[in-house]
Amino acid sequence: MATEETTSNAQHTETSSSGEESISSVLSEKRKFPPSAEFSNNAHISSMEEYEKLYAAAEADPDAYWGGIAEQFHWFKKWDSVLEWNTPYAKWFNGGKTNICYNALDVHVNSWRKNKAAIIWEGEEGNQRVLTYGELHRQVSKFANVLKIAGIKPGDRVAIYMGMVPELVIAVLACARVGAVHNVIFAGFSAHAITERVNDSRAKMVICADGTRRRGGSINLKNIVDEAIVNTPSIRSVIVLKVTDEEIHMHNGMDHWWHDLMGLAADESEPAELDAEHPLFVLYTSGSTGKPKGILHTTAGYMVHAASSFKYVFDIKDEDIYFCTADVGWITGHTYMIYGPMLNGATILMYEGAPNYPQWDRFWDIINRHKVTIFYTAPTAIRAFIRAGNEWVTKHNLSSLRLLGTVGEPINPEAWMWYQKVVGQEKCPIVDTWWQTETGGIMVSPLPGATPTKPGTATRPLPGIMVDVVRKDGTPCEANEGGYLVIKKPWPSMLRTIYGDNERYEKTYWSEFHDMYFTGDGARKDEDGYIWIMGRVDDVVNVSGHRLGTSEVESALVSHEAVAEAAVVSRPDELKGNALVAFVTLKDEYVGDMTLREALRNHVAKEIGPIAKPDEIRWAKGLPKTRSGKIMRRLLRELATSNEIKGDVTTLEDFGVLENLRDQEND
Ligand code: WTA
Repeated sequence: MATEETTSNAQHTETSSSGEESISSVLSEKRKFPPSAEFSNNAHISSMEEYEKLYAAAEADPDAYWGGIAEQFHWFKKWDSVLEWNTPYAKWFNGGKTNICYNALDVHVNSWRKNKAAIIWEGEEGNQRVLTYGELHRQVSKFANVLKIAGIKPGDRVAIYMGMVPELVIAVLACARVGAVHNVIFAGFSAHAITERVNDSRAKMVICADGTRRRGGSINLKNIVDEAIVNTPSIRSVIVLKVTDEEIHMHNGMDHWWHDLMGLAADESEPAELDAEHPLFVLYTSGSTGKPKGILHTTAGYMVHAASSFKYVFDIKDEDIYFCTADVGWITGHTYMIYGPMLNGATILMYEGAPNYPQWDRFWDIINRHKVTIFYTAPTAIRAFIRAGNEWVTKHNLSSLRLLGTVGEPINPEAWMWYQKVVGQEKCPIVDTWWQTETGGIMVSPLPGATPTKPGTATRPLPGIMVDVVRKDGTPCEANEGGYLVIKKPWPSMLRTIYGDNERYEKTYWSEFHDMYFTGDGARKDEDGYIWIMGRVDDVVNVSGHRLGTSEVESALVSHEAVAEAAVVSRPDELKGNALVAFVTLKDEYVGDMTLREALRNHVAKEIGPIAKPDEIRWAKGLPKTRSGKIMRRLLRELATSNEIKGDVTTLEDFGVLENLRDQEND
């Protein structure tokens, strides 16, 4: 239950002092939800006092804090130093030798967890597979042998392009076992995207599937790989897993069936003893312009933070069944579907397909049937569920759930409330986790047994993580003053560089503020030290000289009963300098007309103040999103300005959405 009544903020709180260079914050959300005594009593971290103590200790002596966590893992050789920092290059646990796959599998197989489920997999058609830690270990060891026989050596890059089947996890862990650097490419990406990523990382091998099931049909992945590797001279072989009945061509000498190679491989494989800084994976993330950035993560530091953040944020227990809806093609799938859970010996639920296949209740049906206890998803999915209607959720028994999480975008307070009430039945804490592909693991998040949550904020940084909100000149902002989110101290799972491009690494993350990592996000810290993310600073809208975070204006729109989703951008305006344009998706039962337009404009004026009133509202059946569900405001900005799209659209999920928007009439 909320401890304070909802108060909407009718007043514009202008707190910045440095004009153009700061971001005005206008959202004021006062509801607060402490964890229940029952949850706290059983949690790894049970109170704010405990958190504060841990945080202060980690801040005072980071080496002792991270070193203490690192002690819990298996090392072939212990490290010489916890951190060697040569701005902006870090070496964590230098001199140590370990293997993340050994720590994720072998340690459990040598314990009572040998027969515990590691993966409960459900296919789109309802078929199921369960892999115990023992079986997963056997499969991974076999596939590690396959890689070795194929000539893969430590440090070689291996591209992986397949749908959400257990073999994807097996391929990833087998790479880690032999010291190959995995580069997972989301199975929805085009041939061009594969070519670009394979060439940038100079991968030697592609592991793919013949196809992947999607909404009752299937997509031929192997043909896409064939097209991609015409232009990738570094690729020597392709291993193909049979998943569907897609018709494919196997090329002599180059292509090999997964099952043929596995049939020949031995069951046992010694894990490679790798340096702590041995590269673990490259994962490409789109930059705002230009070619995608290959974010490089290394072994031991990533392992330490993936494991400990998973344990504390998800309060994981051996009895839990944890369901993360992210695709392994994204960082969330890497850290919180594979490495974090498996380093903790947890049981994951892995689902192959679409959230609305065959109907909008697929996730809730899965939760009910498998008695899922922890559920982690994205705001974009939550908003889609709200739009589809509560009945899809409420017809299932979700009483097994004890904890909910979100990641990927700011969650609008109204969407948070819906998640808390309708899915969590007011008994599950929500962990709104802020982090990035670059950070490797969660940085800012409630600890569910300790932190009182407020809808829309990721709350406080985890112990060992030093974040702040600063002005353009690097000085810290006052409470509630909008500014730039930075990370002040190195952390173990930080990216080490952009693959093959140190210059871009330094320029993108380390040139804005001296000696601090720049996240690219706008934020404010409230009076309790809670971090409120206001969106990417590239997306900030400028209204009458005030720079507003997009997420705040969008949240005001989403708090209206008719609105399912909104994106706000600004466009140049002859009279006013800038005009605010809102693209609004309505809930199914509402019709966009002039009256509703006026009602929404007034609603924003009431929630935030007349300053944020959109000049124009356009109805949108859907919003352009990246394939991981983030709204692409850059494209909307172009549309609002010129009704044309000229920029790069390779990461766009659905082109139809743009066509629809272009056909819209302006007010
Ligand atoms: C945004 C995803 C608000 C943010 C793990 C960040 C969030 C970018 C949150 C990274 C959150 C992620 N609240 N915004 N809880 N989580 N973001 O690399 O803008 O796909 O910089 O990593 O997503 O996205 P990425």
